[in-house]
Amino acid sequence: MTPNDNAAVNAKRLAGEKAIDFVEDGMIVGVGTGSTVAFFIEALGRIKHRIAGAVSSSEQSSQRLRSLGIEVMDLNSAGPLRLYVDGADECDAHKRLIKGGGAALTREKIIAQASDKFVCIIDPAKRVELLGRFPLPVEVIPMARSLVAREIVLQTGGQPVWREGVTTDNGNWVLDVHGLRITDPVAMESALNQIPGVVSVGLFARRPADVVIVGRETPEVF
Ligand code: 5RP
Repeated sequence: MTPNDNAAVNAKRLAGEKAIDFVEDGMIVGVGTGSTVAFFIEALGRIKHRIAGAVSSSEQSSQRLRSLGIEVMDLNSAGPLRLYVDGADECDAHKRLIKGGGAALTREKIIAQASDKFVCIIDPAKRVELLGRFPLPVEVIPMARSLVAREIVLQTGGQPVWREGVTTDNGNWVLDVHGLRITDPVAMESALNQIPGVVSVGLFARRPADVVIVGRETPEVF
């Protein structure tokens, strides 16, 4: 690992651990996916006696939670959640995000929508002025892959690339759209959501984060 990699990993750890401040006794905690969330899960394991359980956005996170003895619950039985903690691939000043680098965007979006407070945990490299440098993930029904790709080219001018070999936890595929400069994230999210075959779009603009924690020695919270 280079010193830069080490710094990024440390920043993820600091962000993940800081998010524990938002966990209250008796909560069912919504838990996202990824390497930053892995640090949050580790810290959650240390206070597991204080929480009622977790709702998880991926099989990967469910496994991690169970391995620490945290009960993983079904969202339908858990009902509305008070807190959801998840990472992001990009985050702008309005707390709008690109997510889905780990292909868990659909379940992440569902849990974010079901939660009163979405706390997003990131390392400093994820902060951007304008969303779109990170290729935008779009989960699609497999039979609609080429149709959706053609529509995305027409509507956005971006270049969709099939994430070959990856099947989501929902049995679908992912297109990563390169070359975007997303000046109106809400409009793009709404437009792409309308294409038949699109399951979900990795833009979290209609329901952005409520709080962002940037991992630093003294974590930045905004
Ligand atoms: C998974 C996600 C992750 O939150 C995102 O990819 C960030 O991951 P990491 O914390 O590993 O950098 O959206 O679908």
